[in-house]
Amino acid sequence: MTSSTDLAMLEPLRIDGAVAVVTGGASGIGRALTRALIGGGARVVIADIESEALATTVEELDPGHAGAVVGHRTDVTDEESVSALADAVWDRFGRCDLLFLNAGVTSGGGGWIWDQEPNDWRWCFGVNVFGTAIGVSTFVPRMLADGHRGHVVVTSSKDGGVAPVPHASVYAASKAALSGLTESLQHQLVETGSAVRASVFYPSGGLLDTGLYSAARNRPTHLARVAPGRGSMSFTQLVERVTEATGAPPPIADLDDLAAFVLAGVERGDFVIARDLDVSADVLHERADAIGRAELPPRNRLKM
Ligand SMILES: NC(=O)c1ccc[n+]([C@@H]2O[C@H](COP(=O)([O-])OP(=O)(O)OC[C@H]3O[C@@H](n4cnc5c(N)ncnc54)[C@H](O)[C@@H]3O)[C@@H](O)[C@H]2O)c1
Repeated sequence: MTSSTDLAMLEPLRIDGAVAVVTGGASGIGRALTRALIGGGARVVIADIESEALATTVEELDPGHAGAVVGHRTDVTDEESVSALADAVWDRFGRCDLLFLNAGVTSGGGGWIWDQEPNDWRWCFGVNVFGTAIGVSTFVPRMLADGHRGHVVVTSSKDGGVAPVPHASVYAASKAALSGLTESLQHQLVETGSAVRASVFYPSGGLLDTGLYSAARNRPTHLARVAPGRGSMSFTQLVERVTEATGAPPPIADLDDLAAFVLAGVERGDFVIARDLDVSADVLHERADAIGRAELPPRNRLKM
């Protein structure tokens, strides 16, 4: 039987010497991915909407300005901005081997789905879904035309990608869309016989102390809520809440370990990159069984 990725037919993917682009690379998981990439010998272009965080991250990761990391201010929701990013990457490096479509936001606190406003959907889907789709439509044709071995990693979430947290409905729906998008992408990359492959990445292995809890800092004013939102809880509040609910502090994942884990998955050519996949698979079996009985599938239980 032919594997869905046909990896045996392809030359191995190497981090060392690769040119990588990381959207949302100025903070959290993207910054850790960038650190791991340069540690592995790649050169990285960080694309992020936050100019100040971009400059700080470049300075932190490449203090001597040796060219290992370059920042490019990019709004992933804007086709022209992403096109300018791609032009800058090809002008400087002549290629892109690894594309991490990682920029993402929550929708502003969640709550009842009927209280979510159109602008909650527009902003969250704009960054998470359209931002990823624009990244694919801008970069993948150029990567295919170059004919090099390449890889696209889409950051989804087990919230949506595996099972929704119902009170994070907008975010969960956006991430479910991304998992579907990445599966279609991979099927088509294989179908065309290209040397490019894709992975869907589910950040996992514990709570992640990133800027996602203050994602509203990047919400454009023209997509503001009309009624006051519930507001996002901080990471500290989340830890307190989980500790209270479970009687023990939750595990917190080390971002650098997670980034190293992602790069190992990319090098292996895994389509799904996630920790605790056995637990996710159990949840997915339960969901499939419920759907097979025409019932509501179970919701996301946090540790998956
Ligand atoms: N933190 C978690 O628990 C968790 C869990 C599952 C999935 N994720 C996903 O991981 C990815 C990274 O998030 P994070 O947790 O590191 O949060 P983060 O806020 O630390 O990083 C997200 C980055 O995206 C950037 N960004 C936001 N809007 C943008 C836009 N329009 N254009 C370009 N860049 C933009 C931000 O400036 C920020 O640097 C996201 O896709 C998120 O949904 C996070």
